[in-house]
Amino acid sequence: MHRDLLQLLNCPARDCGAADLSLEAGAVEEIAYRTGPVEEVREGTITCAACGRTYPIEGFVPSFEQLFPEELQDEAQYWGDWYGFFWQRGYRGFYDLREPIAHFIGRGIEVPDPGTLSGKELPGTHETLASHPLVTQAESVLDVGCGGGWSSLFLARRGHKVIAFDPSVVNVRRAKEHAISQGEYIEYLGAGLGFLSFKPELFDAVFALHSIHHVPDLGNEMRIMRGWMKEGAPIAVDEHIQTDPILSSIVGQLDQWFMREVAPRHRTLSAADMASLPEAAHSRLEGMGSNEVLSALADNFSIETFEARFVSLDLFTFMYYLWRDCDPEVVGPTSQGIGQIYDFLQSAFPDRTEYVSVLGRKADTPGPAMAELQRVQRTVTEQEADEHGADAAGVLATVELLNSTVRSKDKQIAWLQGIINAQQEELTRSQETVEKQAELLKRIESGRLIRLANRVTRKR
Ligand SMILES: C[S@@+](CC[C@H](N)C(=O)[O-])C[C@H]1O[C@@H](n2cnc3c(N)ncnc32)[C@H](O)[C@@H]1O
Ligand SMILES: [Zn+2]
Repeated sequence: MHRDLLQLLNCPARDCGAADLSLEAGAVEEIAYRTGPVEEVREGTITCAACGRTYPIEGFVPSFEQLFPEELQDEAQYWGDWYGFFWQRGYRGFYDLREPIAHFIGRGIEVPDPGTLSGKELPGTHETLASHPLVTQAESVLDVGCGGGWSSLFLARRGHKVIAFDPSVVNVRRAKEHAISQGEYIEYLGAGLGFLSFKPELFDAVFALHSIHHVPDLGNEMRIMRGWMKEGAPIAVDEHIQTDPILSSIVGQLDQWFMREVAPRHRTLSAADMASLPEAAHSRLEGMGSNEVLSALADNFSIETFEARFVSLDLFTFMYYLWRDCDPEVVGPTSQGIGQIYDFLQSAFPDRTEYVSVLGRKADTPGPAMAELQRVQRTVTEQEADEHGADAAGVLATVELLNSTVRSKDKQIAWLQGIINAQQEELTRSQETVEKQAELLKRIESGRLIRLANRVTRKR
């Protein structure tokens, strides 16, 4: 860290917050960056004059992890181990968009996604958000919950001055090491929302990608974060709101098929190789803030742009690529097929979503996309209520809606008709119990999806 970072910070302890921090630098190095040399503190200590706490700086990164409660320590450890496993095996895509990712390394499959081998930055919603005029003109950007720092590096390469933080100190130290190797000056902090305090009105922009749905009491944290932003500054958010029940039932089936038929053919890592991976399927605070993401944004920001999307089937393309012995020809058509399923779902349920990509602005007006956000927010709430009291009539109505949408669409999505028909047939035969319906949804089985993909890819 550069010494001046201290001027931006208050003591992060909740019971303190004092502005009076001092620095004792043990080791200082001048680093040559693309934008010029920067003198940075490699090892040192930050001391709060008010409460007397000391916070360490190691590997150029100050850390406030001593303040974390047990659940946030667990959370940080999970991500340190998870991304760390990719890091150690040389798949550094979570640290740099130009580096490869092997999606199923956690299942012992070390095959990289062919789309991540070009050495070019992958496109995505981060790029759309970063290209918004409110963001392109921002000088300083705060990257919230940066994980391995791919987004921080992406933003620094676009010319922004980036300060990034994540509770996983090991990940941000790796991120710092990598940023130095890439010649990009980025300030990283080992900190989490709730355990960090900046001076008011500092940042020209904030990014939070896939992180704030892990934050408990998000409404309150968002209000605090708003205080760190300059008036009119944008906040770019890409977050997991919920998992679509139809897609999740398809994914469940696909996963079984994949583990049975595909994974054994490609698995090269042994259980011993994978011993350092976390055991839990999710991090401890996964989804803690999901319900609050939309309301926290609506309550604190003017909503400039709002986009919703499905993601649950995204990895099917890679699964299918593995199934077809890593044939690159199947990638394009399969992901197009998945795109069609998503389009179809979107047209059948315009307000239903899994992920949202939002650009907010610190201003006191609702903003042009507020109505859209609120419509989705209502649907999400209703859907939650539905999940508790679903009835057969509701499911039948859904099938009818799916059917009428298919009828109104052209042949492009005719192959989906099969899926819908299967559901309908089963439904009409079914008893009207909730348990039965759950079974029926599973009839959108993986075999059918794979046959569809076969058909689509063979066409070309
Ligand atoms: C799904 S990962 C996403 C990481 C990264 N932004 C990315 O897109 O790859 C979720 C991240 O949220 C971080 N996180 C958890 N609690 C947090 C908090 N209170 N404040 C900030 N980040 C937090 C985790 O450490 C983890 O790195
Ligand atoms: Zn203090």
